[in-house]
Amino acid sequence: MIYPNNWIDYELIDHGFGRKLERFGEVVLDRPEPSATWKKSLSDSEWNKADAVFSENKNQRGSWDKSLNDWNISYPFGDSEVIFKLSQGSFKHPGIFPEQAENWEFINQKCSELISDGITPKFLNLFAYTGGASLTADLSGAEVTHIDSVKSVVNWARENAELNNIDTIRWIVEDAPTFVEKEIRRGNKYHGIIMDPPIFGLGPKGGRWKLNRDLPKLLEDAMKLLDQDNRFFILNTYSPQLPLPELKKLLSTIAGFPDNYESNTLGLKSTAGKELPLGNLVRF
Ligand SMILES: C[S@@+](CC[C@H](N)C(=O)[O-])C[C@H]1O[C@@H](n2cnc3c(N)ncnc32)[C@H](O)[C@@H]1O
Repeated sequence: MIYPNNWIDYELIDHGFGRKLERFGEVVLDRPEPSATWKKSLSDSEWNKADAVFSENKNQRGSWDKSLNDWNISYPFGDSEVIFKLSQGSFKHPGIFPEQAENWEFINQKCSELISDGITPKFLNLFAYTGGASLTADLSGAEVTHIDSVKSVVNWARENAELNNIDTIRWIVEDAPTFVEKEIRRGNKYHGIIMDPPIFGLGPKGGRWKLNRDLPKLLEDAMKLLDQDNRFFILNTYSPQLPLPELKKLLSTIAGFPDNYESNTLGLKSTAGKELPLGNLVRF
């Protein structure tokens, strides 16, 4: 398993019994975590220190037992930092997937290599949420295109960009597979692509995204968009129905997908060192 090591404002305090206890800056949240199928390590009195607890109802929606004001956290990035606005909503996610910091470092390394070869990286973030990969790619010197189908989520990413004085990202509210098809027809190419597709999603015009149905075509299309010589690619999947060996079998059938790539479980480590697996990571 790989996990990020550089966080200061984020800490996985404990996990177990289908929950995780985390510190985001000064704020401690207790949220559902289906993959934490073991016992908690800390006592109830530690868990009861959470500032807010999320209870899930239906379709991953739910509510918090306490309302908190929006707040900011930062991630140390190179000589600088990336700032994120966090917020409670009707989903358990407060605006960041902390495990993704591992990919932000990978993006930074790949962009540096391209730049030292005299190439300005063109980077595409699909299913981009609040923009962690977009901001870090921009700060790494890339020309960034950010795609998400939900307008309010793209607005949140734009707010994050403003917090970081970034005004060079191309923001697009669109269904990711549709955008990729259009870019192929337009003959555009990218040096780097990251995709973190959900199990189910919605396009802005109501079309539906289904991971097990739609991933193979999207992967084939993404391979067509990548520059053949100077390129990097990151895929995350969080579906329990697609364990890593199955994902690798699928990748072996994708036209244009290379044979050599890194595959791993992406996760987080608790303060006491207990690992929490959070999904598959494939990258090259
Ligand atoms: C798992 S989140 C990605 C999190 C991201 N990796 C990060 O670290 O910030 C999935 C995102 O996909 C978006 N989404 C769902 N269906 C989509 C579609 N068909 N096209 C584009 N984006 C979609 C959702 O709005 C959500 O922001």
